[in-house]
Amino acid sequence: MQPLQIVENIYDVGVQDWAVRDFHGYKTERGATYNSYLIMDEKITLIDTVKAPFTEELLRNISKVTPLESIECIVINHVEPDHSGAMPALAKACPKAKFYITMQGKNEAIQHYGDIFDFEVVKDGATLNIGKRTLTFASMAMLHWPDSMATYSAYDRILFSNDAFGQHYATSKRFDYDVDYGELFYEARKYFANILWPYAKLIERAFMKLSALDFTMIAPSHGVIWKRYIPEILKAYLDWGKGVQDGSLVIAYDSMWGGTEKLARAIARGAANAGVVVKMFKMGATPNSTVAAELFTASGFLAGSSTLNCSMLPNMGSLLIYLKGLGAKGKKAAAFGTFGWGGGAQKDMEELLEKSCFDAVEPGFNCKWTPQEADLEKAEQYGYDFALSLKK
Ligand code: FEO
Repeated sequence: MQPLQIVENIYDVGVQDWAVRDFHGYKTERGATYNSYLIMDEKITLIDTVKAPFTEELLRNISKVTPLESIECIVINHVEPDHSGAMPALAKACPKAKFYITMQGKNEAIQHYGDIFDFEVVKDGATLNIGKRTLTFASMAMLHWPDSMATYSAYDRILFSNDAFGQHYATSKRFDYDVDYGELFYEARKYFANILWPYAKLIERAFMKLSALDFTMIAPSHGVIWKRYIPEILKAYLDWGKGVQDGSLVIAYDSMWGGTEKLARAIARGAANAGVVVKMFKMGATPNSTVAAELFTASGFLAGSSTLNCSMLPNMGSLLIYLKGLGAKGKKAAAFGTFGWGGGAQKDMEELLEKSCFDAVEPGFNCKWTPQEADLEKAEQYGYDFALSLKK
């Protein structure tokens, strides 16, 4: 059977990775896809490749449409190995093929795979005529690597956006209207939070460039293709790029003997009484990337930990270091927890929160050993007051 044509003469030859659950620390509960598109024009062209273990499947998919040796152009929008892993095999199987790539991408690909490719370096705005179609390359530098670019086909009105607009979402359906809307937008948001958050401020500038293009389909390199919900995903990206917040409070904690968990629950009750949406996560039981997906659009963050050996519990260290990498700007944050004979967790968490670029690290809350009724009352009040401060 031939692969699906997303429009006439453009085939979806990529692969579903149903099994992957960890994408460099990003927990992919719904798997992933590595999308690759084959354009059957006078010069047969492949847009992006797949992760190395799926090379054979990519070659097989292509062979169902055309002999591998007929490919003349291979566009490499981004060299991260989830998109470039099949490059060496393609260089062998497609002897006529030129690889169209940015200068940064070329340098990187040589570092990954050796100097084995026939490269044509393309700059922002460069074009490539492949017959009926002229492809235009648009630099998307730092969205999310220096080499990133998108490719536009005016003939088909398709933007091949690579990582932008992607979702880690393995599904047998290929278009946005074929999958659950809530699931799709959750996965798109989670993807933005965990992949693009550090570069969010570059989104608006990239959009000014893309807005000159007339597209009716966005074909990313991960997840489903945007067709019906293009205005919705464009608006979401603009909002996410600007850091628009929804007023909610995220509480993430870990607890040694249950005392910090009691505080977390009391703080959450207080915050909820102030009318704020609270999302609470116990670390160790929750992936860091799930917390990032919620914190990304939240207004406040409370990190809780018992003190262990004069510092925080390791699960909280893992979360805060992950968030430091993402650079969680524009949110109020504070730390809370219990301790025994000497503290340490709160101070260490506050230091990491500051390094994570949280705008304001507010006074925290703690108590000794197991919180008693009076402590829980104070914790509820603390949660109430912290939540109210998010509304100001
Ligand atoms: Fe999907 Fe940056 O790789």
